[in-house]
Amino acid sequence: MDILQFEKQFLRLPSAIDEIHDELFDQKGIRVFVKRDDLIHPIISGNKWRKLREYIQIAQFNEHKHLISFGGAYSNHLYALAFAAKELGFAATGIIRGDELTSRSNLYLSQMEAWGMDLQFVSRSSYQKKEIPQEINTSNAIIIAEGGYGKMAIKGIFNIALEISGQNFEHIICPIGTGTTYLGLCESLEKAAIHGILTLNNFQEIESNAVELGIPTQQIYDAYIFVKYARQPEELVNFCQLFEQKHQIKIEPIYTGKMFYGLYDLIQKDKFKPGSNILALHTGGIKS
Ligand SMILES: Cc1ncc(COP(=O)(O)O)c(C=O)c1O
Repeated sequence: MDILQFEKQFLRLPSAIDEIHDELFDQKGIRVFVKRDDLIHPIISGNKWRKLREYIQIAQFNEHKHLISFGGAYSNHLYALAFAAKELGFAATGIIRGDELTSRSNLYLSQMEAWGMDLQFVSRSSYQKKEIPQEINTSNAIIIAEGGYGKMAIKGIFNIALEISGQNFEHIICPIGTGTTYLGLCESLEKAAIHGILTLNNFQEIESNAVELGIPTQQIYDAYIFVKYARQPEELVNFCQLFEQKHQIKIEPIYTGKMFYGLYDLIQKDKFKPGSNILALHTGGIKS
């Protein structure tokens, strides 16, 4: 199916913008809005479609038949890619970090395999070098970097800027994994200040990605990563639950939970002037 037809028929684009309310925001005289990219699609949600769109368009245009990418055992990116490939008629290969894993290691891997993705489990050292196993035929494939990182993905993020053009947000905030979404926003929105919340301890990687892509970074915060080995710290998990109760918007502790936690903290610390309108990008991450 052609990508435009797919978007029209299956995706909720442009994504909605909802205002959320809180005593804290009233006290500080600011307004907070959420760009609901999480509602774009139940599976290809959040920044996933934004980042994959251009790769898929190029693949269709050049008649590539095969999409190859990399990720960990719980990769939102590979999960979305597996589904998109099935729907749009591509073969897909996921190169997965960890040769101790199998497609039965978790439900997401099983689901990806059921959608037709060829799962290749590779050792951590091979994964680090981003080697593609020799038996994979790459001749008619598009190879997409881990997390969708790259220039094509940045182009897809530009669509967010188009969707909000004409609306007056002084501040935009998003979580940072590979930094693609954040850098895409930095590149495409001239007037707003772009705030990125690191979710991993990878500031240096983001800086070198920014240099590689030729995009100057703006404000990046490393105060909300939480401890390295506790994937789901209790304070953050509680915050996500309270947030959902209050705003009826689901968030999770890996990406969007950290962003909203950080946003509340920054508001509390008077980072934003009274009268500011802040847009938080809900990048999805809730697998269904
Ligand atoms: C739900 C979610 N939010 C945010 C991110 C981080 O996005 P980026 O890699 O573009 O920084 C990811 C990872 O791709 C993600 O899965």
